[in-house]
Amino acid sequence: SVKLGSCGDEITMPVIGMGTSSHPPVDRETAKAAILEAIKVGYRHFDTAFAYGNSEQHLGEAIADALRLGLIESRDELFITTKLWASFAERDLVLPAINTSLRNLQMEYVDMYIIHWPFKLGREMTGMPLDEDQVQPLDIKSVWEGMEECKKLGLARGIGVSNFTSKMLEELLSIAKIPPAVNHVEMSPAWQVTKLREFCKAKGIHVTAYSPLGASGTSWGDDRVLGSQVLQQIAKAKGKTTAQISLRWVYEQGVSMVAKSYNKERMRQNLDIFDWSLTEEELQKISRLPQIKGFVFASLLGQHDLLLQIDAGL
Ligand code: A2P
Repeated sequence: SVKLGSCGDEITMPVIGMGTSSHPPVDRETAKAAILEAIKVGYRHFDTAFAYGNSEQHLGEAIADALRLGLIESRDELFITTKLWASFAERDLVLPAINTSLRNLQMEYVDMYIIHWPFKLGREMTGMPLDEDQVQPLDIKSVWEGMEECKKLGLARGIGVSNFTSKMLEELLSIAKIPPAVNHVEMSPAWQVTKLREFCKAKGIHVTAYSPLGASGTSWGDDRVLGSQVLQQIAKAKGKTTAQISLRWVYEQGVSMVAKSYNKERMRQNLDIFDWSLTEEELQKISRLPQIKGFVFASLLGQHDLLLQIDAGL
């Protein structure tokens, strides 16, 4: 696990979390069964978001079941992250938004509440923007005040951000009374975001990787990670799977991660990366892999300044 410092009090977060965003969305029973299986296999860190369909509700119901079944004794054994959706990225909408998420999750608090995207969308927007005109800049000072209030009220043990660039973090740090504990960003051997990670490290912001396996199966993911010949060769030589090589590489960069699998064997496999390591030569080979981001706004929405910044991953 990693320790996250935010204003004196320390929070411990398991390095590997289970992602609960499914593409295409799964039904409630499938989602709940997967989460229960994950708890049985040993996952104690779950990542969800208001915007992931009914994922918060499913996670809440599965955890309530896990408590009833005695798989865990108390909710405090889990680390739960959820996210402020972009249509609530306004000072006065943050508190109602976290309260909605907490109701969905059947919880009194989340362990981490993060701003999902560094932009604002209109009130009616429940999904990603379809047109660049829908994307508005964030009034970071006022939104962050709302986030800080969530922490002060004990509704979130830690607060952070997602998809923020160094420049956006710089702006946030200049006004924050409570600095962001984490920045969730897309990261894998195929998108290493070295500069952004160096910046975060220098500022004491912990990085959590999403899509560490290249998000295969989603509209923005593909097999550039799991299909990489370099990673496959390393895996073969070590008797590991390509997925494990990728996750171990992320871990060795000092980064935690959320990986999604609804398959018991692969869930197990993805946790099994802690008692072996990559050699210097293997790390070198991985550092030379071609870099391509999976989730790219420009391909969807054209040349919007703010979105191009996010796409650049700087
Ligand atoms: P599945 O749920 O069938 O296991 P990411 O975490 O980067 O978004 O990637 C998620 C995708 O990777 C899912 O399609 C998931 O499919 C697949 N996946 C997760 N773990 C593994 C693994 N160990 N080996 C192969 N594919 C995996």
